[in-house]
Amino acid sequence: MDRGCIYVNKSSFSDNIQFLKGFTNKELCVVVKANAYGHGIDWTVNTAIESGVKWFAVAAVDEAILVRKISDNIRILLLSEPSISELEKLVVNNIDTTVYNEKFIDQLGESKEALKVHLKLDTGMHRVGCSPENFLRIHEKILSYKNLTLEGICTHFPVADTQKEDTKQSVDLFMKTISSIDIKNLFIHADNSASTTFNDEKIFNLTRVGLAAYGYSISPNSVADNLKPVMEIKTRISNLQSRKKGEAVSYGKAYVLEKDSIIATAPIGYGDGYPWNSFPDGKVIVNNEFCKLVGRVTMDQILFDVTDMDVKIDDEVIILGTSNDKSLNISIKDIAVWNKTIEWEILTNIKDNRLNRIEIDN
Ligand SMILES: Cc1ncc(COP(=O)(O)O)c(C=O)c1O
Repeated sequence: MDRGCIYVNKSSFSDNIQFLKGFTNKELCVVVKANAYGHGIDWTVNTAIESGVKWFAVAAVDEAILVRKISDNIRILLLSEPSISELEKLVVNNIDTTVYNEKFIDQLGESKEALKVHLKLDTGMHRVGCSPENFLRIHEKILSYKNLTLEGICTHFPVADTQKEDTKQSVDLFMKTISSIDIKNLFIHADNSASTTFNDEKIFNLTRVGLAAYGYSISPNSVADNLKPVMEIKTRISNLQSRKKGEAVSYGKAYVLEKDSIIATAPIGYGDGYPWNSFPDGKVIVNNEFCKLVGRVTMDQILFDVTDMDVKIDDEVIILGTSNDKSLNISIKDIAVWNKTIEWEILTNIKDNRLNRIEIDN
């Protein structure tokens, strides 16, 4: 190991998928956008296929093409409208496309290309989606184009991880809005990781799950005990130095030593996706002990306090994951909390161009 490794655990990923399948009773669509939430797209898609998953969701046409290269026998859903200039790629790669703007739908319809579409209804997220007032007209429009096959109706919740009641209102609005159309043979989908744990309306038959599949917590209805975090990040001690009380370390001299200290360095930094704001609250694990970060995270290195510990160059440093004696853990949520951000952002920023990604199966 030079700089460090991102370990991704295939068994944990497939166990999460099996758990979610049983838990939701809906068909699972695994969200693999942003390099499968930083985990790597190839092995995640392959492992999910081996676990019986038939649907994958992406945010970009180029991501869809990567997934299509893996298998011709799966459905790939693009979660929002692409530029019309991507039309040929959609057709050639047999990509299901989310639609909501009349102009875009007209462009697809007039192209005469055979396309599968899912009509997205805005039930409160107010990001993309047709309004409830326009839904029936747009639905009719899609049906009027013989080259377009309506495959699904969908929506997306803004506060599924914090507010069940608000989410219920979105569900009610969705059901009311689509109540007069024929939904036979359609995929009806709304849920993400959080809402899939409590939205039990029978109308929904597909669930788009990202974070939970990778094993991370899904509040407010926690089933986290049944999920296994898929990713661990480990590196090594690359430098040790003795510093005196009163000396400052790293950029900005933002940390002044309160006592004579031994400071270790590890070769990982914000250039690898380990976020800058991890200092001052962050820590790492060495030899089954927490060590607090001292000084600002730099692009390529972090510093932490190993005073009074028995350590040497090349000792393992756990950035994300569980100590070897299983007594300590650093979770994605911990890193997100130190950085006042969300788990999704931490994961999708992890880069595997300098850290080696290693697939493990146990
Ligand atoms: C439209 C859509 N559906 C589903 C998901 C999956 O969300 P989660 O990772 O919370 O399961 C996302 C994630 O960003 C999304 O944008």
